[in-house]
Amino acid sequence: MFSNLLVFFAIIVLSACDGDDEFANYTITDRPFPPHFTFGVATAAYQIEGAWDTDGKGEQVWDTFIHEKPDRVSDRTTGDVASDSYHRYKDDVRCMKEVGVDYYRFSIAWSRILPNGTVDNINTEGVNYYLNVFKELEANGIESMVTLYHWDIPTDLEKQGGWLNPKVVDWFTDYARLCYTLFGKYVKVWVTINEPKQICHSGYGTGGYAPGVVSPGVGEYVCARHVLLAHAKAWRVFDKEFRSALGSRNTIVIDSDWYEPATNKEEDVVAAEIKRQFVFGMYAHPVFKGDWPDQMIENVGEISRRQGFNQSRLPAFSEEEIALVNGTYDFLALNHYTTYMVTAVKGEEYPKVVSWDTDSKARSYQKDEWQTAAIGWFRIVPWGFGKLLRWLKKTYGDIEIVITENGVSDTTGTLRDQHRINYMKSYMSHLLDAMYDGGVRVTGYTAWSIIDNFEWTQGNNAKLGMYYVNMSDPLRPRIAKDSSKYYSHIISSRCLLDSCQ
Ligand code: BGC
Repeated sequence: MFSNLLVFFAIIVLSACDGDDEFANYTITDRPFPPHFTFGVATAAYQIEGAWDTDGKGEQVWDTFIHEKPDRVSDRTTGDVASDSYHRYKDDVRCMKEVGVDYYRFSIAWSRILPNGTVDNINTEGVNYYLNVFKELEANGIESMVTLYHWDIPTDLEKQGGWLNPKVVDWFTDYARLCYTLFGKYVKVWVTINEPKQICHSGYGTGGYAPGVVSPGVGEYVCARHVLLAHAKAWRVFDKEFRSALGSRNTIVIDSDWYEPATNKEEDVVAAEIKRQFVFGMYAHPVFKGDWPDQMIENVGEISRRQGFNQSRLPAFSEEEIALVNGTYDFLALNHYTTYMVTAVKGEEYPKVVSWDTDSKARSYQKDEWQTAAIGWFRIVPWGFGKLLRWLKKTYGDIEIVITENGVSDTTGTLRDQHRINYMKSYMSHLLDAMYDGGVRVTGYTAWSIIDNFEWTQGNNAKLGMYYVNMSDPLRPRIAKDSSKYYSHIISSRCLLDSCQ
């Protein structure tokens, strides 16, 4: 009887704060996207280009990471050819034209321009490739949003420590300045760095991503500090030397899932907020407010002391560095895919392990009943998107936000991808609600991705494109999926349904 009562109360507590229930009878909005709202699609160099060693391109960490140990990719494929966009970029642009997007977000492969990573060896053929892409986009009336770094540091720089070496700040700034100079007149929006969390946590923490450095709770913080300084210096160079002549904008892309408290108990509510600070705030707070979030400084400092470190594992920024990083944005750029529930982890359960994850004193998990996509973590939780957007406004103020990635995977690449249409419809509906009802100032949406491409350690097992690419066909034809037509409808009608208000 007593345990029944407990279960009963647990259900009440859970349902009191669970977004699933809150949105149980949710209907897709018939409110339109405002006229100034722009739509784009995104890719990244390693995921689409292939031509990994063609025309003087240097090796980068993902080439090395996968060639060294093919098992690192679940289906043992590589990005050596990927969607072969190095040779077929015109096909990509044709797809974009067909969909009717306003802009294309893609990345430059650092080692295609600078094979060794430094500016004393510029690869003209690599430069020409990107000039051709820009010209093709321009000829088709599609604007360029360019990411300078989407996880592919040149291997020669990684051999010197990569993002753990303080010199990376200048290596990156020099590379950025070169790109502004070479390509500036074609680019409407610059993104310095894509998803620092994945670079540092997965690349220099767990080691699950290239370069595979395993240094949880230590290396990942050193990396984060350097990534932020590199971004800031590259942004300042743009601001001072290029902005007025080019008239373009520049920012960093930060990814975040939504973290929902598992119950409305104070400790879970607090844990969820701290988790958000460890995921998004870790990179956003220094850029939008200055310095690491207070809660991170406190947690990592306290746990480091208890673990016997003589100083916090979170390396401090100096006053000058705080000033350098603070304010280095033109708008907030967000990548978002999924949601987690969060419970507090108490007392002695932590911190036996040294890691960013345990430093947050929060445990996150996904619900079994949430629909899953091809990638394990990738559960479909549309309401989390709306909550995250409202939280961003509450936390960072009335700031302009552009969604720089959002999308869903499957394993087959089916052309009848109704699940992708449902995903887009429901996520964008929560986005519109956050705009109309929450006053969140979102001005653009970028779908990931225009074509199927190489999905990192999932290889070709996870497909996220609106155009199917058969990775075994040497010609890599792009074939429209139903979702491309749906996205095209949204763009031309500005409406998620057949018609809007
Ligand atoms: C990355 C993309 C990736 C996508 C889907 C994002 O975190 O920026 O490169 O393909 O997620 O997993």
